[in-house]
Amino acid sequence: MKATELNKQFELNQTVNFQKISDGLVKLVVNNQFSTAEIHLQGAHLTSYCLNGQEDIFWLSPIANYQLNKAIRGGVPICWPWFGKHPKDCSLPQHGFARTSEFSVESIEESESGQTMVKLVLSSNQKTLQVWPYQFKLVVQFIIGKTIEISVITHNDANQEFFLMEAIHSYFAIENIEHTRLQGLNGLVFFDQLIQREEINRDDLVSVSSEVDAIYECPPHQLILVQKNKPALGITSKHANSIVVWNPWVDKAASMSDFPDDGYQNMLCIESSNTRSKVIVPASHSHTLTQIITPSVSNE
Ligand code: BG6
Repeated sequence: MKATELNKQFELNQTVNFQKISDGLVKLVVNNQFSTAEIHLQGAHLTSYCLNGQEDIFWLSPIANYQLNKAIRGGVPICWPWFGKHPKDCSLPQHGFARTSEFSVESIEESESGQTMVKLVLSSNQKTLQVWPYQFKLVVQFIIGKTIEISVITHNDANQEFFLMEAIHSYFAIENIEHTRLQGLNGLVFFDQLIQREEINRDDLVSVSSEVDAIYECPPHQLILVQKNKPALGITSKHANSIVVWNPWVDKAASMSDFPDDGYQNMLCIESSNTRSKVIVPASHSHTLTQIITPSVSNE
């Protein structure tokens, strides 16, 4: 649907506005009393969230592609219904098809307290059934206010159960990777994807000083992103059996055409996910994975 038609359909006290990016690509801009956010309909992909007067919480590649059927580098891609390479057919897209599929707008509402709630939807269709043979409805819901809450809601519309993997693949903007730590992963088993081995983390504050691609199992409810010894963000996960921590570092950054060579210094992916073990969704049931980001948290 075109931006002009969407603007007619969803007039909400001028807090939301649809903008055309290029042929076939539209983004939604939300600007309420607390914050601004931008969400692309392709992939239900959030690319920006700022509290009023503050810097963006998310890192977005300055050389990202905005094209049909291409994932945007940065922001919050949604990986669904598989994570990483497809387990049986590596010709299928990495991280599933949701992040390159066109979503429709199901609803946009404003709460009494002034938060904006956006629901985008993707339903199974001929194209999805060719690569994933199940009837589904996938809703990506954003609640935008003093915090941002992102939920990936899977409805199984088939008459049999299905299994899936998923990730809310958030690229957080950081001042400098050298001064960044992640708190809350002490004592957890993680699968190091680079050497394909399980390890146990013994650090209260996890730092990154080389390429990292780690899947932490059974994560706690909340992690704290610490910058220059101060808690900067709270990252709450609900119904996630794993947290993926990813930074490509020098060589991998240089090998990606949509990633600046020095970009690894200013981003860290922390992904609330269900990856190492799959989620079972019985017929006619739903499953919801959520990540809530609380800017300016304090440990006190
Ligand atoms: C992470 C994976 O979630 O995403 C990494 O753990 C992967 O293995 C990274 O390299 C980026 O993936 P993509 O497909 O967006 O380049």
